[in-house]
Amino acid sequence: MKVVVTGAAGFIGGNLTRELLKDKTVEVIGIDSFTDYYNPEIKRQNVLSLGDRGFTLVEDDLSSMDLTDLLQDVDAVFHQAGQPGVRKSWGSEFETYTRNNIAVTQRLLEAAKSSTTMKSFVYASSSSVYGDAEGFPTHESDLPRPMSPYGVSKLAAEHLVTLYAKNFGVPTTSLRYFTVYGPGQRPDMAFNKFIRAGLRDRKLTIYGDGRQIREFTHVADIVRANIAVLRASPAPGSVINLSGGSSVTVNETLEVLASILQKPLSVEYAAKVAGDVFRTGGSTNRAKELLDWTPTIDIREGLESQVSWMESLPEALFDTHSNHAG
Ligand code: UGA
Repeated sequence: MKVVVTGAAGFIGGNLTRELLKDKTVEVIGIDSFTDYYNPEIKRQNVLSLGDRGFTLVEDDLSSMDLTDLLQDVDAVFHQAGQPGVRKSWGSEFETYTRNNIAVTQRLLEAAKSSTTMKSFVYASSSSVYGDAEGFPTHESDLPRPMSPYGVSKLAAEHLVTLYAKNFGVPTTSLRYFTVYGPGQRPDMAFNKFIRAGLRDRKLTIYGDGRQIREFTHVADIVRANIAVLRASPAPGSVINLSGGSSVTVNETLEVLASILQKPLSVEYAAKVAGDVFRTGGSTNRAKELLDWTPTIDIREGLESQVSWMESLPEALFDTHSNHAG
């Protein structure tokens, strides 16, 4: 089987590629443009660690490269590439979000349309499409009303994905990820920053009062769901929550982290950042029904896995500064 993973050098794309390559019958073509939203050296190392058995890297920009030939004979596309980051999507940055999240997805769909071999087109959507959700747990049929320009861009792309399923039969599945964490997590995300601060006895910053709730989802569970799509082939145009299974406040996660690190954390509170929602938490009924998926990793086990990974990072990658502190 031949599959394409966009964003293969990134956090989720890298973990997914590693897992896919465990199956010796799978050939992965990874596409990445190594943008500098955070230190591209992290992505270079990620790719190196994937080895080259079954793996081909195409270093190119999805917004301009030729995609039709590339997708012609593939069995699946896992579209994980995009411009992430909720809090940095305001102002002039938005242009990057429209290009890398919306326009790129449309280009991929156009190319996917003419493939005669494709059985799955998986789009990495986001819990941020819900914004201030109508209710909890949030169902896929609830009205999406994003709170950030990032969420708007992910939702716009998700609508495109569904349009190409309905109009052209592209076998799409949109997976709405709820705050993903674990080994490889981006350096602009909360747990990466908290663990880095904890391990080096530095102060960490909480935006707002720390009572905001997230349904953090471990990357291994996310990877498992992506692969389950290949097996289950949900109806084209399906939209599915991948929500971690336990609702916790940011303050509670710090208690767990302090107990794992066995030391008190130094915390300062700062203003809430525009675009941050108060709560996320999704129903996983549909994921269970369509993919036979339920989350398996709780916050303690998941944070332990991220701490172990971060403890093992070489110094040059540990203390890397993102261009956009997030
Ligand atoms: C994350 C990802 O960054 C998005 O790409 C993704 O689409 C989104 O999840 C999603 O689920 O849709 P976010 O929930 O903001 O976005 O993830 P974190 O950066 O891990 O932040 C979690 C919470 O911690 C937020 O309330 C944030 O304000 C807070 N936080 C973050 C801090 O208090 N301090 C920090 O230094 C960083």
